[in-house]
Amino acid sequence: MQAGAPADPILKMSGQDLTCDLDLSHDEVNYLLDLADAVKAAPRRFASALAGRTLSLLFEKPSLRTRLTFELAIKQLGGDSVFSSGMIGEREPIKDVARNLERWTNCIVARTFSQETVMELARWSKIPVINALSDLYHPCQALADVMTLRERFGSLRGLKVAFVGDGNNVAHSLMLSAARLGADVVVASPPGYAPNPDVVGQAQGLAAAAGSTVTITTVPEEAVTGANAVYTDVWTSMGSENEAERRRKAFCGYQVDEKLFSLAAPGAVFMHCLPAHRGEEVTDAVIESQQSVVFDQAENRLHAQKALLLMMID
Ligand code: CP
Ligand code: NVA
Repeated sequence: MQAGAPADPILKMSGQDLTCDLDLSHDEVNYLLDLADAVKAAPRRFASALAGRTLSLLFEKPSLRTRLTFELAIKQLGGDSVFSSGMIGEREPIKDVARNLERWTNCIVARTFSQETVMELARWSKIPVINALSDLYHPCQALADVMTLRERFGSLRGLKVAFVGDGNNVAHSLMLSAARLGADVVVASPPGYAPNPDVVGQAQGLAAAAGSTVTITTVPEEAVTGANAVYTDVWTSMGSENEAERRRKAFCGYQVDEKLFSLAAPGAVFMHCLPAHRGEEVTDAVIESQQSVVFDQAENRLHAQKALLLMMID
């Protein structure tokens, strides 16, 4: 697929699924971001683009942004959605769930504990499967994040993006998505909480092709100094609640407060996927500051996911 302005008819993804950020090619990401900008500028132009199509939303974990933005996205594109909560594969095999949903609906959006559950749905389903957050990746969040950075800075090329905190699903998808668009990504995590080494290797491979870098450190100041964007996320992700107390101790010193944020470049933005825990990974002063773009990120979830659905669903 060639990058460029959104064409009519809209170009479809070459692969069927978005199980992880790598399922979109570099050109497809650029096309998606252009399309998301077009959708944001003129939403009514796309009001019946997916008329008659239905999404299945399967969520094993809570959600505000992801659930509502997918429900709104499909509705505003002329389609509809159905929602189901609970563990996928508990009552019947995942392969049977997949082969039911493909008979009734046009796309599965799944929020799961395990990446393997998303992969299994994708393996058995003839309709597209979108990862709406797993233990390893949060690709829909990353699309909104790079859209937000592009809006603010024009391009990601040459930006320094710092992630301070847990080397988790959000950090993984940010590394992959920002590095491939030319940003230098530095992740600062406490010992024992660094990003998954395989994902770091993938991100470094993408960075090498893009002329950017991905660096892992334990020193928050090293990540934030001169950064154009400072990103953080909760210290305890959904599913790890029994580790919360241990993590609060381990992450002490990794809070994005005014002192740490002041090391960033002039005009730097503060980013967070939300929900945020004020007083833990970020102070109230930083998240409420003029430099905070957290609600732009949240808004862009809607536009980026509309573009994604337009490219994935026939
Ligand atoms: N950022 C995000 O995915 O939010 P939800 O957990 O509310 O969907
Ligand atoms: N890392 C967080 C992100 C929530 C949107 C979690 O997985 O709980």
